[in-house]
Amino acid sequence: MEDTLIRILFLGDVMGDPGRKAVAEMLPKLKEELNVDFAIVNGENSASGRGITPKIAIGLMRAGAAVITTGDHIWDQKEIIPFLAEEPRVLRPLNYPEGTPGHGCIVLDTKKGKIGVINVQGRTFMKMILENPFPVMAEAVTKMREETKIIFVDAHSETTSEKVALGWFLDGQVSAVVGTHTHVQTADERILPNGTAFLCDAGMCGPLNSVIGMDVTTAIERFTKLLPSRNHIAKGPVKLCGALIDVDPETGKAVRIERIQRIWHEHEESS
Ligand SMILES: [Fe+2]
Ligand SMILES: [Fe+2]
Repeated sequence: MEDTLIRILFLGDVMGDPGRKAVAEMLPKLKEELNVDFAIVNGENSASGRGITPKIAIGLMRAGAAVITTGDHIWDQKEIIPFLAEEPRVLRPLNYPEGTPGHGCIVLDTKKGKIGVINVQGRTFMKMILENPFPVMAEAVTKMREETKIIFVDAHSETTSEKVALGWFLDGQVSAVVGTHTHVQTADERILPNGTAFLCDAGMCGPLNSVIGMDVTTAIERFTKLLPSRNHIAKGPVKLCGALIDVDPETGKAVRIERIQRIWHEHEESS
């Protein structure tokens, strides 16, 4: 990689204990191996699949995440609410109404310049309908570009169409739009015509043998018996999914995007 470029590593939704353990061990290694300048991790499912706690957020940052993005599960653990006010590196979706605790975006100083991160949530087929992400993003990006052109967007949405449309909407205005929330990585990574790197969904960091991170038997029962049953996180090897993006700091445009997938086995090191 050219030294003048900024390399951003993004990891998708971290699922519970297995996801956290895998990220704690693998993120420092990936950063070194891939020459990463700036790492961002989506932590919305890091507390047993439901939200994130201050302790878990601190753990992910110690592992090397400069910023933690989230999504619709942000409020699942109540203790995160006061923490969001004091820790601006943990984001909640930007498009909540004014006065909502926490922040949806941040600009951080790095050795290679200022990097902005924005977390936004889609509306289509989402339980909670937030403000329209398109005008909210247009305003936020215009404001952020006064400070930096290097902007990473985590678009947390259910539908591919909403994420694809947001990518096109922001093309040339931000460095990257990478989707989260579905936990399944898509294979559509590309640089859009005006220089925005795009990937519809990064995928998750969670159990490989699972239904989007949850135990397979329980998940099948929920579909077959149609009775309420509580999902729980699956066990076994973890698949880490994400994206690696190189950005030209002069222009803020992406020059390269690559999908990342790694399998992690617990106790691999000690055996
Ligand atoms: Fe998620
Ligand atoms: Fe989500």
